[in-house]
Amino acid sequence: MGDIPNERLESARGRGFTAVTNAQSLRSWDVAIIAVPTPLLNGEPDMSFVTLACVALAQTLSPGGCIILESTTYPGTTRGLVARVVSEESGLSESDFLVGFSPERIDPGNTKYSLENTPKVVSGLSSEALSRVDSFYQSLGLQTVRALTCEAAELAKLVENSFRQVNIALVNEVLVAARAMGIDPWEAFRLAATKPFGFMGFLPGPGVGGHCLPIDPIYLSWAARQFGDSQIRLIEAADAANREMPKYTTARAIALLEQGGASERPRKVMLLGVAYKRNTDDYRESPTFQVLKELESEGIQVTLCDPIVAELNRPVEGYSVARWSPDLCKSFHLVVVMVLHDVVPIEELILSSALILDTRNFLDGFEFDGETL
Ligand SMILES: NC(=O)c1ccc[n+]([C@@H]2O[C@H](COP(=O)([O-])OP(=O)(O)OC[C@H]3O[C@@H](n4cnc5c(N)ncnc54)[C@H](O)[C@@H]3O)[C@@H](O)[C@H]2O)c1
Repeated sequence: MGDIPNERLESARGRGFTAVTNAQSLRSWDVAIIAVPTPLLNGEPDMSFVTLACVALAQTLSPGGCIILESTTYPGTTRGLVARVVSEESGLSESDFLVGFSPERIDPGNTKYSLENTPKVVSGLSSEALSRVDSFYQSLGLQTVRALTCEAAELAKLVENSFRQVNIALVNEVLVAARAMGIDPWEAFRLAATKPFGFMGFLPGPGVGGHCLPIDPIYLSWAARQFGDSQIRLIEAADAANREMPKYTTARAIALLEQGGASERPRKVMLLGVAYKRNTDDYRESPTFQVLKELESEGIQVTLCDPIVAELNRPVEGYSVARWSPDLCKSFHLVVVMVLHDVVPIEELILSSALILDTRNFLDGFEFDGETL
């Protein structure tokens, strides 16, 4: 979704790279990377995409070929699923080919850290596989960090995402508690973040979205129960806390509408920001859809607006998405800022909105009619 610009892909093609749309078109290869989705199905890991990719690669695998799994997954996938399925489907023994795991660590939209300056954790099922995986990424100019086992590398990726999920849940719950105590949570977060050690700043919001935080930590808590007969209660509690935020956002929006005294019915609300993340068009698992449904169930008329997602020129999750303009903003009783992309001019947004609920304190430092979450 827009992470790598088309021009960059075009220039790669000019340098001899080709793209195919089905695995049958693959001829021979030395290294194959699997980076297919690993979603949840009924609350459990859905390994169907990884399995299908393994089946496809097995058709063209030659002895000595190297397969690297980059998809986020539960510990044991590389050994217990990838190596096994590829061996079964290719007819080769597991010792005839190399298998490794190197987690994808890209943070779409992050302008400071990218593939080029984020160390790449590398692992292999054998020392030969580890060397091959390591030298492959080094040949791309990447800094690598060797893991002793694939399982440790798989777990490390889940720890990274769970760390973020748990900390976001903490500030989300603190936000709700601070509001109940009559304290400005954003001011408290600002103050806490001035401590130069022993603290890492995370910010609350209207709910977590994307394909990582709502999903990956569940892979870890699932694996702990499944394979280790233990629980990671913090992850499950954090997931529940984060899933409450769209409801809380809706309640705040309704309270603000009532304070604003709009007498016209139906009340009209714009949800500004459909992407779950600033300056991206990635709307997967976006909390905006949950807030939309909650508001609609209260009889409120909701319009989705996102200048970047609207560029996709198609409905998303069955909803049409409007482009932002000051005139459009004027027709709503309330604008809920879910995500504020840089292309939206803040002053114009404030001048054209009757009332604003700013869910992420984007408008810090500006005066506007409304409140922060
Ligand atoms: N994209 C990221 O920023 C990011 C960051 C960290 C981790 N990850 C992990 O990487 C994995 C992929 O995520 P994504 O966001 O790139 O997913 P995505 O859905 O954007 O892309 C996956 C691609 O895989 C293709 N695909 C699916 N099944 C296939 C098959 N059998 N054979 C060939 N291609 C197939 C799809 O067509 C799609 O182009 C996931 O496990 C995710 O958790 C992604």
